[in-house]
Amino acid sequence: MKDEKLFIFHPSSFIFLVSIMAVKITTTNVSKFFPSRGRVVTAVKNFNLQVQEGEFVCIVGPSGCGKSTFLRILGGLTPVSSGEVQLVPSQSGAPLQSIVFQEYAIFPWKTVTDNVAFGLEMRGVAPKERRAIASDWLKKVGLTKFADCYPHQLSGGMKQRVSIARAFANDPEILLMDEPLGALDAQTRAVLQEELIRLWEASRKTVVYITHSIEESVFLGDRVILMTAHPGTFKSEFAIPFARPRAFELTGTPEFSRLTYAIWKELQGEVKRAMEQQQ
Ligand SMILES: Nc1ncnc2c1ncn2[C@@H]1O[C@H](COP(=O)(O)OP(=O)(O)OP(=O)(O)O)[C@@H](O)[C@H]1O
Ligand SMILES: [Mg+2]
Repeated sequence: MKDEKLFIFHPSSFIFLVSIMAVKITTTNVSKFFPSRGRVVTAVKNFNLQVQEGEFVCIVGPSGCGKSTFLRILGGLTPVSSGEVQLVPSQSGAPLQSIVFQEYAIFPWKTVTDNVAFGLEMRGVAPKERRAIASDWLKKVGLTKFADCYPHQLSGGMKQRVSIARAFANDPEILLMDEPLGALDAQTRAVLQEELIRLWEASRKTVVYITHSIEESVFLGDRVILMTAHPGTFKSEFAIPFARPRAFELTGTPEFSRLTYAIWKELQGEVKRAMEQQQ
């Protein structure tokens, strides 16, 4: 009798169901082979992933397991060797995806404003409008005073803020991030994690986020996907149950520690295997 409750239909639950079921990214048996010194390296092997619209998915895996290769495939920068990638565009006319890389990837000859406005310029947005959008994003990441500076005048953390602001300013449907905070010191990284989560919670874009840090993945993500050691494929996944908005205090709770430990236990063997492969 209790189960009957599940079938009670209400229009709002239908809308809810439809909205949570909108799949944005599907990869089916994606593999990538690279020719390397007379042999073939399998960088990614039969990787299956489904990401819902508005979901923040983190991918964690040992060094060299194929995370960046997979993200580049999603970004259209690297073709698959086999398998399929499906990104579902909306009707908005917005760009489908933007990538944030670990090494900032900002242009040294452009000012901070022009770097943030770069994607908009590529899309033919008029100069006045793109400057206004860039200025708005620079305000959001606390860089207004540096609008006319060049990258060499900025710290690593500031450069990464420029890179993140540029990705958001371009207003893509999907944000692909490859260890965007990986090069930063621990304190700057903690500050930027909070900034990133605040920006994302205000925009709810679909995100695929690569990181080496289990703590970062649990703090930021709705779901954490683990990859095996080389050749990288799906190992397992963890749903992250913490309510949003999230604040840094979450990282000091026993629930947070328990979950990060459980993920580490699951990943540990793969990390060891990856280290043995590299010897
Ligand atoms: N262009 C390439 N040519 C040949 N081999 C490549 C190429 N790009 C990546 N590989 C190989 O594919 C595998 C996966 O590399 P990838 O950079 O995707 O790993 P990763 O998980 O991002 O590593 P890290 O955590 O160190 O950033 C590695 O063995 C790497 O040497
Ligand atoms: Mg990488």
